[in-house]
Amino acid sequence: MDSSSHVYDAPPAGANADWTVPQNWDAFGADDHAMWDRLFARQTAMLPGRAADAFLRGIDVLKLTRPGIPDYRELNARLMAATGWQIVAVPGLVPDDVFFDHLANRRFPAGNFIRTPEQLDYLQEPDIFHDVFGHVPMLADPVFADYMVAYGKGGLRSLGFGALDHLARLYWYTVEFGLIQQADGLRIYGAGIVSSYAESIFALEDPSPNRIAFDLLRVMRSHYRIDDFQQNYFVVSSMEQLLQVTVETDFAPLYERLESLPDILVGETIAEDALVTKGTQEYVKGASRY
Ligand code: PHE
Repeated sequence: MDSSSHVYDAPPAGANADWTVPQNWDAFGADDHAMWDRLFARQTAMLPGRAADAFLRGIDVLKLTRPGIPDYRELNARLMAATGWQIVAVPGLVPDDVFFDHLANRRFPAGNFIRTPEQLDYLQEPDIFHDVFGHVPMLADPVFADYMVAYGKGGLRSLGFGALDHLARLYWYTVEFGLIQQADGLRIYGAGIVSSYAESIFALEDPSPNRIAFDLLRVMRSHYRIDDFQQNYFVVSSMEQLLQVTVETDFAPLYERLESLPDILVGETIAEDALVTKGTQEYVKGASRY
């Protein structure tokens, strides 16, 4: 999701009123499918022991191991059976209200292009590998699936409070870059991490970032960076915790408090933080090792 950088004010030619376009699966060529397979093989080899159980289960349940870019007709049948969610293709970033409305109705908007070989490790706009491999497995988890619906409804509500920037931080630090404490260790579940080879290692194993116990208000005060690895990650103790605290809390009074609370900068910690690991912040100080 992005709150500001969408290019269009209205659905582009050929798109529906809700900004969806046909996936047009038949138009993907052999190179596109080969790129998916290459990214898929690299990620699935390294994710066992790193990705959350719910994520790995999703890959299985959705039969994502089938080669090539998934055909949404087939994928949606499995996803619908698991949690009632569907993937819809969109031409790129969509306006916030459109995005939230899709989520609130159990539709996940996914980019409809795949990166080129030059973009293997980095690209700024979400492609189909990030959106489908990164996001869709968690949507097969019933608790996470409900969280995303609640988030969509909460997103629509936040617009009325002018609180979109605060709520976007919650999405960033959970859906995109969340960590979870499992009984057998720390795991990644955020789509921005699990779809990135280098950040999957960095987020769990590098001494640089802070790993901080999830706190709703704290997260909504926290700046994030979109152009490099995160310097702070937030750790939920379970998906149920995340769902419960966000659904049972009325955000309206929080939005009001947030207006007078100072923002917390990238990589910063505050006295109230419950640190799972205190980072050295060496990555930002020194040269990149990835
Ligand atoms: N409970 C939130 C509100 O009152 C809605 C919400 C749910 C927001 C889940 C984010 C995630 O606005």
